Amino acid sequence: MTEYKIYGGTPLVGSVPISGAKNGALPLLFASILAEGDCVFYNMPDIGDIRLGVEILTRMGACADWRDAHTLRINTDGFTPDAVPVALTGQMRASSYLLGACLGRFGTAPAPCTGGCDFGNRPLDCHYEVFHAMGAEGDGSLYTRQGLHGCRYVFPRVSVGATVNALLAAAGTEAATDLAGCATEPHVVDLERFLCCIGVEIEGIGTSHLTVRGKKKRKGASYVVAPDDIEAGTYLCAVAATGGRVRVCDVTPGALSPLLAVLRRAGCEVEQSIDSVTLLCDGKLRGVEIETAPAPGFPTDLHPPLAAALCFAGGVSILRERVWQQRFRYVGELSKMGACTQMRGDTLVISPAQMHAAEVTATDLRGGAALVIAALATEGRSVVGQRKLLERGYENLPHKLRLLGANIV
Ligand code: EPU
Repeated sequence: MTEYKIYGGTPLVGSVPISGAKNGALPLLFASILAEGDCVFYNMPDIGDIRLGVEILTRMGACADWRDAHTLRINTDGFTPDAVPVALTGQMRASSYLLGACLGRFGTAPAPCTGGCDFGNRPLDCHYEVFHAMGAEGDGSLYTRQGLHGCRYVFPRVSVGATVNALLAAAGTEAATDLAGCATEPHVVDLERFLCCIGVEIEGIGTSHLTVRGKKKRKGASYVVAPDDIEAGTYLCAVAATGGRVRVCDVTPGALSPLLAVLRRAGCEVEQSIDSVTLLCDGKLRGVEIETAPAPGFPTDLHPPLAAALCFAGGVSILRERVWQQRFRYVGELSKMGACTQMRGDTLVISPAQMHAAEVTATDLRGGAALVIAALATEGRSVVGQRKLLERGYENLPHKLRLLGANIV
């Protein structure tokens, strides 16, 4: 099926299991290039981007098999950096991690040709700057004359991808690499922990200042992928929109704090346990003001799902997008459902409006999630096209929503 059909207007009630994090699992997949022998990843999400990442690695010589639905064994001993399947790498942003992982292991890296959600220009300048600081040369493919050397580098802006790439490259050199201004998103921290499991030494784990001492040879490891806080946050935004009571299970509640603080301000009640969060919403949301920022700020990937929920609030909301200036393509589709929105530069203003069912089209992964949320909270039959964009990052979305009583196929 190329679309979701949703009969909305029913409050969501129940519990939903959360999968491993897409943006955590992707760096781990590419980090396996650095390990000798088997890596076994538990809690791997079964989503389009992971299947694509596995295919890229196997086309380049890795062996991979799924031991069960969420356990992936991968062995990259036969991996070579030569023939990049650009038709595949061009479909995802995370294929840029080939650069850091190949540099770390081989001292050279092919130009990967990357893709991913369309937020306008997505430059790699910080990635290349840190590689050059470590002794790599080239502006597309990269090479080193005498291998990588350590360096001290301060990121000019916080970047998840550039931090991941710097860590992957640094894992291959025994000299110390001192990195300041690093991203501290939970999925970056997950990579730091995995690299330690394969033998890399890292000081400052979880902070923005990391010192990495790699190893010439790194071993395989078994590792459990951390939960997806963005997937969990999407379900919480859905219940904020529809009203009801939903428990997201198998999560790290601390990683959801920025969203939970906003949902409390909007009038929802939150209960937490060690690995679950329950949200209660009576369907009467208040308008709120938020600004996205790198961690520990409000995550940009939750801005569209939250915006969809706020279309059902009784007051005006203001959302400033400070990470991706062009992340608003979904707003036009929300307007087709009656949303009353106004763009002022990087700021979206949402005013109360009567929402109605409609046929809309996902513009990107999280923007698509926003449309599904709006459809769930609106009486009548909506259709959300470009389903494959959501399947890249949400495991079994219709099934999980049906667990909560939604009518979606
Ligand atoms: N930037 C630069 N130069 C660079 C790198 C980034 O100017 O060399 C800018 C970007 O243009 C952007 C900002 O810095 O304005 C942040 O970009 P970042 O590098 O942090 O993003 P990314 O690594 O490309 C990852 C996630 C995104 C998520 C962002 C921010 C993956 C595969 N993607 O992208 O996730 O929005 O971090 O948290 O991890 C999604 O899952 O829907 C998604 C888009």
